[in-house]
Amino acid sequence: MGRINLWALLMYVTVMMVTEVESSLHRVGGGKYSWTSDVNFSDWSNHERFYTGDWLFFGFDRTRHNILQVNKSSYEQCIDTDYIFNVTRGGRDVFQLLQPKPYYFICGRGYCLNGMKVAVNVLPQPPPSAPITPASTASTVLIPSNAFTIATLSFAFKAFML
Ligand SMILES: *[C@@H]1O[C@H](CO)[C@@H](O)[C@H](O)[C@H]1NC(C)=O
Ligand SMILES: *[C@@H]1O[C@H](CO)[C@@H](O)[C@H](O)[C@H]1NC(C)=O
Ligand SMILES: *[C@@H]1O[C@H](CO)[C@@H](O)[C@H](O)[C@H]1NC(C)=O
Repeated sequence: MGRINLWALLMYVTVMMVTEVESSLHRVGGGKYSWTSDVNFSDWSNHERFYTGDWLFFGFDRTRHNILQVNKSSYEQCIDTDYIFNVTRGGRDVFQLLQPKPYYFICGRGYCLNGMKVAVNVLPQPPPSAPITPASTASTVLIPSNAFTIATLSFAFKAFML
């Protein structure tokens, strides 16, 4: 590949990266394994900003706890039957917030009544030019929405440096 083509590729990839929308990963409860009964989840979610495309990360002990997406009334009354979606997998589980609306999650097995429930209000993605300021940097990690682009970019850089 000639030098000119490499430049073109590099420019293309850079433009793609800049125009792409970033999505955030929110660690529910703020820590690595914070889906537990001693966290104030309304306090946590009040200090976060959720946009469409963002991810929730639940870290927990799956022998004790689970995560069920429920509707508002089930959230308020801690009803864990007829849930919308069972998020529980291995104990380090993710859920993508695809729509601008409130989402509700509870822990079944009686833990919801002890406060193991969280509501997140998802906002539409801001326009790309608007600066994105995560409300809490402690529990929010920016993840590139396209890992392939990063790989292509670093490949292009390596090729260019040769
Ligand atoms: C959780 O925090 C909120 C403030 O964000 C407070 O109003 C509420 O009383 C707290 N709940 C508990 C159970 O401590
Ligand atoms: C919420 O879910 C429960 C359990 O599936 C159901 O009985 C109830 O009708 C639902 N409420 C609304 C407002 O959709
Ligand atoms: C949710 O899914 C997990 C893992 O597949 C399973 O072990 C668990 O029984 C399910 N929970 C409910 C309430 O369906």
